[in-house]
Amino acid sequence: MSAIPVIAIDGPAASGKGAVAQAVAERLGFHYLDSGAIYRAAAFAITKAGLAVDRLPEADIAKIASNMQLNFRNSEIYISNQNVTDLIRSEECGKNASKIAVLPKLRQALLELQHSFRRVPGLVAEGRDMGTVVFPDAGLKIFLTASAEVRAERRYKQLMAKGINATIANLLQEIEARDPTGLRVVYGVYLLDAREVWTPRPSESGRTSLATAPRDLAEFIALGDATARSERIASLVNSEKP
Ligand code: DC
Repeated sequence: MSAIPVIAIDGPAASGKGAVAQAVAERLGFHYLDSGAIYRAAAFAITKAGLAVDRLPEADIAKIASNMQLNFRNSEIYISNQNVTDLIRSEECGKNASKIAVLPKLRQALLELQHSFRRVPGLVAEGRDMGTVVFPDAGLKIFLTASAEVRAERRYKQLMAKGINATIANLLQEIEARDPTGLRVVYGVYLLDAREVWTPRPSESGRTSLATAPRDLAEFIALGDATARSERIASLVNSEKP
């Protein structure tokens, strides 16, 4: 068992866990693992080799993923020295990633790589199975939820900001279909509902805005000033899980 603390933040697509996890990592000076990016990179490596994710045997998919030369440098992601940071964010890559993510051999093949992110002073790991499978001994496990409607709305705004057309109705369908990868949260640790924990601020239109919410939640998770922080981490790591 490792003494290096891990904060696991799991949750469904578009729940905001990425923004929250990054803010927590920044706040604590911890390393950050976006495990979804690894699944996306594996899907990218397969299609780049001219192969189709749905016609390749599971063992071959696992092998390509194990052998891909994946590197994370200064928030950029490289496969064999090609910068794929933006390429893996495409809709197609996301869909392919969700197709291969159901394969147990692939999940097994990616474990070691994910474990290698656990380095001093600590790690904030974000994904679907961080607290259950990859870092079961994480000192703090959070499952960030939000209703499908809230998530579809978030996704809609993200796509609009990128100039991509979409309708909330279609996104809602997609989001509901995309997520049941067979991974469910089986730990009953800190279950946070985005709407409950975030502190929405009224905007000019009178609607609530979630723009600053991830920071608020990050504060909630990270807590305190520099002195309190180390005590807090120690207590998180040592404490009995609820
Ligand atoms: O979070 P994301 O959209 O970048 O994830 C891409 C795909 O990978 C998505 O279908 C969920 C899957 N995934 C997974 O199965 N396990 C993880 N730990 C992270 C992502």
